Amino acid sequence: MQEKTVQLETNSHPRTLDTVITQRIIESPDHKISFAEYMELALYHPLYGYYASSSTQIGAAGDFFTSCHLGADFGELLAKQFAQMWELLQHPSPFTLVEMGAGQGLLAVDILTALQRNFPDCFACLTYVIVERSPTLIQAQQHQLRQFLAAGTLIDWCDFADLPSSITGCWFSNELIDALPVHQVVLDAGQLKEVYVSVNQQNSQTQFVEVIGDLSTPKLAEYFDFVGIDLQLPLYADGYRTEVNLAALDWMTTVAAHLQRGYVLTIDYGYPSDRYYHPNRLGTLQCYFQHQHHSDPYRHVGQQDITAHVDFTALVKQGELSGLNSVGYTKQALFLMALGLGDRLTALGQSPATEARSIQEILRHRDALHNLINPLGLGDFGVLIQSKGVESTVPLIGLMGEIANTQKN
Ligand SMILES: C[S@@+](CC[C@H](N)C(=O)[O-])C[C@H]1O[C@@H](n2cnc3c(N)ncnc32)[C@H](O)[C@@H]1O
Repeated sequence: MQEKTVQLETNSHPRTLDTVITQRIIESPDHKISFAEYMELALYHPLYGYYASSSTQIGAAGDFFTSCHLGADFGELLAKQFAQMWELLQHPSPFTLVEMGAGQGLLAVDILTALQRNFPDCFACLTYVIVERSPTLIQAQQHQLRQFLAAGTLIDWCDFADLPSSITGCWFSNELIDALPVHQVVLDAGQLKEVYVSVNQQNSQTQFVEVIGDLSTPKLAEYFDFVGIDLQLPLYADGYRTEVNLAALDWMTTVAAHLQRGYVLTIDYGYPSDRYYHPNRLGTLQCYFQHQHHSDPYRHVGQQDITAHVDFTALVKQGELSGLNSVGYTKQALFLMALGLGDRLTALGQSPATEARSIQEILRHRDALHNLINPLGLGDFGVLIQSKGVESTVPLIGLMGEIANTQKN
């Protein structure tokens, strides 16, 4: 048994969530919980979890920002892709867009505004469904979308389990899968073991400690066979540690079951399995607190975001098992450029400053567009598109950049 003792921050906030997690650990067999259970509580405990406590952590004033915090361009370009999907599906009505993990609702507003303005026929057929597990964020989303709601736009909030299994449209998410709780595993004397969280209570101080034990479920070892990774010595060194996102596989299965005809569009940080589980990469767990990132999930408990990158190979394979076809995988930079981001940059370069639009605003807008395609940042995100029951062979606009790239090589 190996332990890594981690001193809890004592100056962060009332230690309520620490107490809740400690209690859960004490009541659990062998006084330990899986890292996935720890992450689940830290992020989603209904009262004290990171996503339950307040809706202000995302954005310029919060802990991290996402593509939709850089302005409306991201949502407008996505709207163009959704409108083409509607056409390729032969103009279904209702055409359902399901956004899962909608944060503060900014992306929903940008997409709905762009569809209404630029693709009114598609907008007229639209039902917009949000699947969100944080009640605090649902309130924020309802506030953001109040004008659309007042005007009678069909917007619904639904539990994952309660969705109808007959959706025609597109199921999409931005930075959802990286927020699902992951298990942590480690190679210990050539054996795959699991990292658990336990507590050490000494001198009236509580410390979370990591404990290595047998796998809590055989699915963890099966996962590596599933994605074609052989964690053998000496290629993988003893102590090699990484994450496994079993929740993403369940998510993919449920999404596929609910989709009758249409697409699944997933945007997130991540890589295919061979890059994700490269012997030199020791895990991808990242924590975000006030725009600083680090890798200690036991700090600022309930006050910081915890994420792990997405294994896109696992999503593709699980999708195929569940009846989805892989339409294409590309990077966010190529995806947005194919949808017209480059034209926006060119137009900005040619637009003179006016009284209505100062030079500072033009520069700010240009920076935002560059950030969306920055190869060292958001531009390197993966974009996976899968489909079910789509007959058209017309390429999706967002994947044209990838197709051109592949043909060049
Ligand atoms: C990192 S935030 C991304 C928010 C937003 N998509 C954006 O780009 O700004 C993750 C979002 O996923 C939500 N979420 C996480 N797990 C979920 C689940 N199982 N069902 C629904 N929403 C979930 C969180 O509450 C939060 O809204």
